[in-house]
Amino acid sequence: MLQSSLVIRRPDDWHVHLRDGEMLATVLAATARDFTRAIVMPNLQPPITTTAAALAYRSRILGLLPAASDFTPLMTCYLTPSVAPDDLAAGHAAGIFSAAKLYPAGATTHSEAGVKQLRQIYPVLERMQRIGLPLLIHGESVAPNVDIFDREAVFIEDELIPLHTDFPALRIVFEHITSREAVQFVRAASGAIAATITPHHLMINRNAMFEQGIRPHLYCLPVAKREAHRLALRGAAVSGDPRFFLGTDSAPHLRHLKEHDCGCAGVFNAGSALACYAQVFDEEDALARLEDFASHFGPAFYGLPPNAGTVTLERVASVAALPDWPSPLGPIKQFVPPGGLCWRVVKP
Ligand code: NCD
Ligand code: ZN
Repeated sequence: MLQSSLVIRRPDDWHVHLRDGEMLATVLAATARDFTRAIVMPNLQPPITTTAAALAYRSRILGLLPAASDFTPLMTCYLTPSVAPDDLAAGHAAGIFSAAKLYPAGATTHSEAGVKQLRQIYPVLERMQRIGLPLLIHGESVAPNVDIFDREAVFIEDELIPLHTDFPALRIVFEHITSREAVQFVRAASGAIAATITPHHLMINRNAMFEQGIRPHLYCLPVAKREAHRLALRGAAVSGDPRFFLGTDSAPHLRHLKEHDCGCAGVFNAGSALACYAQVFDEEDALARLEDFASHFGPAFYGLPPNAGTVTLERVASVAALPDWPSPLGPIKQFVPPGGLCWRVVKP
């Protein structure tokens, strides 16, 4: 008999884009409904590069939460060559920074201010290693001659392996991994190396972006890879290995900016992610391991207690789409896997 419902401890999202201003006001509720904490990406314009900016951003987030919400945003610092190690360390000591984020310059949305040469931030990494502040990595090579589907694998060889050799005790999260090579790197690595996996990379391969026409809403960075890579990600996610945990990379863009000559990268999945993960674990006959992936392994890596409370998921008749997320700026398409979604979160 098919399992019809599932209760798990409340999960966290270890990688989310909440944006700012009207967009923040619009999308925050989706994340706060299903997740108790979230690692909030700092790629605003301008990026969050100081403790003061993170504090102000955190206040804006908290100010938009309904009074009854217990959602806690965990803030991150966008690493640039000008980030001051003392400020970063002070922000961490004060409980404001939970991690710092490495964007190779030009790798993705709002990464222009990122890092051109890793050596530029070695003093910051040195300090992070010493104080135990995790480094979150968007792991794609930006070398112009590298094929877009090889960017993650090339990054591992050219940048990540040397970085890990130079900073063996640095805590690293290899974010939104998309390839077999990334799974293999994490499995083989010594030290505190983990990875997050998104729902969409578990559910689509690169063909899905071109199924009967171009599908801009399935375009994100790192871009989805071949089927063999998707299967490797699924294997890692359901394996029970604590180094692989939940991070949605929910990245909202207005519908009209994705359906565009030069469409933005990013999938908005905040409202469907938990159901998607449940569907993946269900398909892999691993529902019993969802709670570890969603609610235990992330806190363990970050040295935080698991959340109190639970969330209930239930199996439903498959839906092919969810309504667009309404916003005063325009609609935002919600991610649903091409084959439909047959789980949902039961409203508390
Ligand atoms: C993200 C965004 O829109 O900010 N886009 C994406 O495709 N994932 C940036 C990122 O995480 O790469
Ligand atoms: Zn992201």
